[in-house]
Amino acid sequence: MTQDEQKRAVAAAAIQHIPIGSIVGVGTGSTANYFIDELAKIKHKIEGAVASSEASAQRLKSHDIDVYDLNNIDDLPVYVDGADEITENLHMVKGGGGALTREKIVAAVARKFICITDQSKLVNVLGNFPLPIEVIPMARSFVAREIVLLGGQPALRQGFTTDNGNVILDIHALQIMNPVELETTLNQITGVVTNGLFARRCANTLLLGTDDGVREITF
Ligand code: 5RP
Repeated sequence: MTQDEQKRAVAAAAIQHIPIGSIVGVGTGSTANYFIDELAKIKHKIEGAVASSEASAQRLKSHDIDVYDLNNIDDLPVYVDGADEITENLHMVKGGGGALTREKIVAAVARKFICITDQSKLVNVLGNFPLPIEVIPMARSFVAREIVLLGGQPALRQGFTTDNGNVILDIHALQIMNPVELETTLNQITGVVTNGLFARRCANTLLLGTDDGVREITF
């Protein structure tokens, strides 16, 4: 299967995990887009969705799926989203599409996080994919200097503003041996809104697209 076919396959497989009548948390990116298209096929069986980005909200609405404000939701049984890197114990790097903060918020509310990726995203150690950090614009240089002290090489994502009006620093040259610790450390830097490590709230299930079909990993 091509990478794109794997993404489509895991998006379709995720539908089996959606409770009837529920509001569904929906992520951002090309794999999440395939999931939205699959969700549209069962839209009469769900109440609606909560989106982790303006782009996903627009796509959901284009399929006539009701998009709810997260503040009005008491219970979110499941959140489905892709990842840029994921390990066998379901720690992730996310934010390649710049939606990491809203993704982290929706993931925090959800009872279950189902990650859908093609096999290229499965790694032994996180950090080859540059780790995104959302930063308040006036803190950009300060945060960059702090990251250099931690051994990372930050690069400003050029011409990009998040849905929250902030900038993204992508951190290169990290070998993330302890994702939970690094996630916490980065969050302590003043001016950081959030970072793309999803280790404290990792996925519950990974649906991994492979040449042999969809592999399910639950940790
Ligand atoms: C967006 C994300 C995406 O989940 C991540 O970038 C994976 O994207 P894709 O499914 O296009 O490979 O975190 O902020």
